[in-house]
Amino acid sequence: MEPSINRTAEQIVAHDQPLKDARPPVLVRELSAADRERLLTHFFALDEDDRLLRFGQVVPDRVIENYVRNINFSNDKVFGVFGGALELIGVGHLAYLPAEGDKRTAEFGVSVLESARGRGVGSKLFERAAMRSRNTHVSVLYMHCLSRNSTMMHIAKKSGMKIEYAYGEADAYLSLAPADQTSIVTEMLQEQAAVFDYAMKRQAQRASQVFQAFIPAAANAA
Ligand SMILES: CC(C)(COP(=O)(O)OP(=O)(O)OC[C@H]1O[C@@H](n2cnc3c(N)ncnc32)[C@H](O)[C@@H]1OP(=O)(O)O)[C@@H](O)C(=O)NCCC(=O)NCCS
Repeated sequence: MEPSINRTAEQIVAHDQPLKDARPPVLVRELSAADRERLLTHFFALDEDDRLLRFGQVVPDRVIENYVRNINFSNDKVFGVFGGALELIGVGHLAYLPAEGDKRTAEFGVSVLESARGRGVGSKLFERAAMRSRNTHVSVLYMHCLSRNSTMMHIAKKSGMKIEYAYGEADAYLSLAPADQTSIVTEMLQEQAAVFDYAMKRQAQRASQVFQAFIPAAANAA
């Protein structure tokens, strides 16, 4: 009977892999000042511990309001991943630090809604920020985290970041290769795919709103 047990195990493995691969792709879109309201909604949804991990302290809503109001979209880059209802399920903020001579550095911070974690959203936001950094002549990308943030530490190590630990905190650094044609074209294509995906979701949302608007009329007519 043992062989049939092994066959069952193989069948389970064989079915698991396509399911994992069948996850929808994570598309990262660059955000603009027009997205401030959605950014607020995203950050307000983070609980106390997430706010501590993201901002280094438990920030109240008014500090978040101030932070979002003051994001300088013409200097910094903010990236988002949208859910089906056009809500921001993940946000990455790439802030360019003052240049030191020829050396350009940037700092990255990221958050993903609890309901959307473990699907690669945080990793994709990081990858996109690293690519943008590279394509804008940043040589070192920097990230400051609490060292107990094992998920973020995992993402950092996976990306080849060097990590220095001190007093319960961790500074992670990624040295970036100069931009090349591939990195520039890849980023452009990813952005186009994300813009298209956003337009499709918006279209679907509008169609659903129109449909909903007709439902009471249809019900009254019946
Ligand atoms: C950190 C955070 C952004 C990760 O987002 P996410 O979308 O869940 O991340 P991903 O799905 O891309 O990756 C999670 C990875 O960590 C791994 N992981 C999950 N929990 C883990 C844990 N407790 N310890 C170690 N690794 C863990 C997953 O297996 C996955 O690894 P893989 O890509 O090799 O399979 C999200 O948890 C978050 O918003 N946390 C609160 C705010 C925060 O910590 N921000 C970072 C401050 S810079």
